[in-house]
Amino acid sequence: MSDDLIELTNKLQTVASSISAHGTLDLPQIVVVGSQSSGKSSVLETIVQRDFLPRGSGIVTRRPLVLQLITSKQADAPDYGEFLHTQDKKFYDFGEIREEIERETSRIAGGNKGISRMPIHLRIYSPRVLTLTLVDLPGMTKIPIGDQPSDIEKQIRDLIMDYISKPNSIILAVTPANSDLVNSDSLKIARQVDPEGKRTVGVLTKLDLMDAGTNALDILTGRSYPLKLGFVGVVNRSQQDILTNKPMKDALKSENLFFQQHSAYRNIYARCGTQYLSKLLNTILLAHIKEKLPELRSKLSSLISQTQQDLSQYGEPSLAAEPIHHGTLILRMLTRFANAFVAAIDGTSSEMSTKEL
Ligand code: GDP
Ligand code: NA
Ligand code: MG
Repeated sequence: MSDDLIELTNKLQTVASSISAHGTLDLPQIVVVGSQSSGKSSVLETIVQRDFLPRGSGIVTRRPLVLQLITSKQADAPDYGEFLHTQDKKFYDFGEIREEIERETSRIAGGNKGISRMPIHLRIYSPRVLTLTLVDLPGMTKIPIGDQPSDIEKQIRDLIMDYISKPNSIILAVTPANSDLVNSDSLKIARQVDPEGKRTVGVLTKLDLMDAGTNALDILTGRSYPLKLGFVGVVNRSQQDILTNKPMKDALKSENLFFQQHSAYRNIYARCGTQYLSKLLNTILLAHIKEKLPELRSKLSSLISQTQQDLSQYGEPSLAAEPIHHGTLILRMLTRFANAFVAAIDGTSSEMSTKEL
């Protein structure tokens, strides 16, 4: 039931985003921010336990990636991905997912390192993921390289601001532990929209790369920087691990061992690492969705009546430039989601199923 609520929110988000005029439901989601090479992609891949994100130097993430993780019910079900733009096609090969992200990025954002605000929607089904919605955004950068537009820094900043300024966004602020927290771009930008640190989760990457004799215990225990949701330390695969294709399973084992055996982190190891981070995010997202249900419900009703009105008045003017479905189909889906949603909110259906939606 709980995961179904996140899944339903996911589906709603997908449908709502294909309606341009009123696609501003502001659904709860987790937005990943950080400077380039801070470890954002690595964190996402460790959470998913798969290699599937484009890599390289420079700005690799050039369109928002809305990543919806869905727990497969059967423990032995194979992992697969589905893009909104490729409709029903199932990707069982995660290398192909990476290629599709790259292709779809270039298609809209061009090959010249520009960025686009139009998101790519990807769902990943796996028995090993917790149901979560994560948004990967371009990393913050200072210096344009090659033929990047000269205002690339501002473009990226504006895009990040768009996502994190929404009150329903949980900000996952990634900072590498081998640089000074005071200089963290992610914490700086998060503070602008969440000055009280109520909806920001700090993630400290690269704990294994800190100078010998130093540690981040004060940060991880909340004594250095005030975030109500706290900081979680992680150790992702190093560049060397990636080059040698270190399996994700082994990476997770090494990460656990790192925290268990580290003299500074031994005592807090249950609150460290990627597995703990996944659980924490699932809990936070669910609590957040529950808190926002009444507000969502009323927004949803007005979205439906607006869409209904548009459709009857003008045909299909409120659809995005690339309609995946016809307006009436979208409206029908939206209405179905809304009904299931309202049923869940009212508690009239404790066995809510999202399967047939
Ligand atoms: P992004 O640009 O923020 O998405 O950063 P990436 O996830 O691509 O990581 C940049 C580089 O840092 C890659 O070479 C990663 O292997 C490396 N890296 C990320 N996290 C860690 C970590 O926790 N420990 C180590 N040793 N390397 C890391
Ligand atoms: Na950062
Ligand atoms: Mg990245």
